[in-house]
Amino acid sequence: MIIYKLKDYAEMSKKAALIIASQVNLKPNSVLGLATGSTPVETYKQIIKLYKDGNVDFEKVVAFNLDEYKGLKKENDQSYHYFMRDNLFNHININPNNTHIPDGSNMDAKHVCEEYENKINNLGPIDLQVLGIGLNGHIGFNEPDEHFTSKTNLVKLTKSTIDANSRFFDNINDVPTEAYTMGIGSIMKAKCIMLLASGESKADIIAQSFKGKITPLVPASILQMHPNVILIGDEAALSKLN
Ligand code: F6R
Repeated sequence: MIIYKLKDYAEMSKKAALIIASQVNLKPNSVLGLATGSTPVETYKQIIKLYKDGNVDFEKVVAFNLDEYKGLKKENDQSYHYFMRDNLFNHININPNNTHIPDGSNMDAKHVCEEYENKINNLGPIDLQVLGIGLNGHIGFNEPDEHFTSKTNLVKLTKSTIDANSRFFDNINDVPTEAYTMGIGSIMKAKCIMLLASGESKADIIAQSFKGKITPLVPASILQMHPNVILIGDEAALSKLN
C-alpha cells in the first residue's frame, strides 16, 4: 500500500488529480471508477484544470460511478448523475456515452444491479477506482453488515449515512433511504484503488480500516486485502495512522 499524507485538503486533492491524470496519460482508454460526496470535489476541480491546460485527454476514457440513490431521476440536483455532470463530466472531453452510473429512476432493483454489474464486467476491469469513506467505514454505499457484499446491490442506508448526507438536502426527510451501489466484490476487482480522506472526523475510521481487524462491520477494512491500494489523506484524516 502507498500512503500519501498531505498537508491539507488542497494538497491532497492536487495529488489525487495528478494520479488520475497519470493513469489516463499512461493508458488513454482507461476505465476509471469514480466517487461522489464532498471529498473528491476539489480533486475534480484540479482534473478540470489539468484538462484545460492540455495535460490530459479524456476522449477515450470510460467511467463507472460507485453508486446512485434509488428513486432519484438523473435531472434531480441531488442525484449523483447531476453531481458528476456538474462537478466533472460537463467540463472535460469525456464522451457522455462512456459514463456509467446506476439508473436511480428505475425501481426494478434486480434489473438495475445485474445490468450494471454486467457492464462493468464487459467494459472493465476498472484500472483505477477512486473511493471516499463514510464515517462508519462504508465504501460506495456498502454499509457495515455481517457479510461483505459481492456484486452491485440495493442497500438500505443507515441512520449514520442519512444523517451525514442530509447536509445536501433541504430536509432530512428528503434524503433517499435506499441506494444502488457497486458491491465490495465489484470494487475489489479494480486493478488499483485510491481512497481519499480529509478532515479530523475521518481519523478514527481511517485508523480502524487500515490498522484494525478486517471485518464487514468496517467495510473499508477489506482494502487491506487488495494488492494495489493508494491511500491519500490530509494530516487530520491520517493523524491516527502511524
Ligand atoms: C460516494 C460514495 C460514498 C462517499 C462517502 C464519503 O459516491 O460512494 O462512499 O465516498 O460517503 O462522503 P464524503 O466525501 O462526503 O465524506
